[in-house]
Amino acid sequence: MRKSPIPAGNWKMHKSPSETEAFLSRFLESYGEGDAPVLFFPPAVSVPAAVRATRDRKDVGIGVQNIHWEREGAFTGELSAAMARDAGATHCLVGHSERRALFGETVEETVKKAVAALDADLQVILCVGESLDERDAGRAEAVVREQLDPVLGADAVRSAWHRLIIAYEPVWAIGTGRTASPDDAGRMHRAIRARLEEVGAGDDGPPPVLYGGSVKPGNVAELLAVDGVDGVLVGGASLDPHDFAAICTAASEAASTS
Ligand code: 13P
Repeated sequence: MRKSPIPAGNWKMHKSPSETEAFLSRFLESYGEGDAPVLFFPPAVSVPAAVRATRDRKDVGIGVQNIHWEREGAFTGELSAAMARDAGATHCLVGHSERRALFGETVEETVKKAVAALDADLQVILCVGESLDERDAGRAEAVVREQLDPVLGADAVRSAWHRLIIAYEPVWAIGTGRTASPDDAGRMHRAIRARLEEVGAGDDGPPPVLYGGSVKPGNVAELLAVDGVDGVLVGGASLDPHDFAAICTAASEAASTS
């Protein structure tokens, strides 16, 4: 049987601590413990509320959306991986396209962040994906490779291979309602998997590769049925407890039917 696909919700800059509590109490009512490990990435200030609210659910993990690579220091407004871990986070997003495009995060910084997060015992979801211009220019795979390879080349990443997850998020599909077709997603996921297998640093097989970009309850089953899609990273539809519960149910069903 296939490993359970992972549904993950990236809340971006949505949901205060009290909104987080209200959301999770509704979500946990609508979604009983399933086969899929479920992840939430609330804003950092809401992480303790999310950890408290999900304490009794072994299938739910909480992560942060970003960290700084230093452990501590004079970096106003930043947050270290060790601090996130101490607050109860188990996962960290690295290299989300909004961090790259809006905050100028470079590939070198994503490497440092991935290494720092793994050093602090977090699991990393490394986000990669091309823009529409890059896709139209036939450079989609090359761009993804340029984002992926420097991280895969770091010794600290290779020695913590089992704590790495990749998320393929084509930038043109994020928040646009436009999803990659199953064929396009499948082609890219299999290319990423092939690269992970080539680099191959563990006995457990390649890290899972999630798809992100306008995933909704209505298209999630079709995406999860694609060979190479090991889960979904969801923005907008993870903000509604019923929609996200439907996505988690689809992930659980995909695990049991394949
Ligand atoms: P949407 O699901 O809103 O397109 O966002 C995807 C995303 O950026 C998840 O990280």
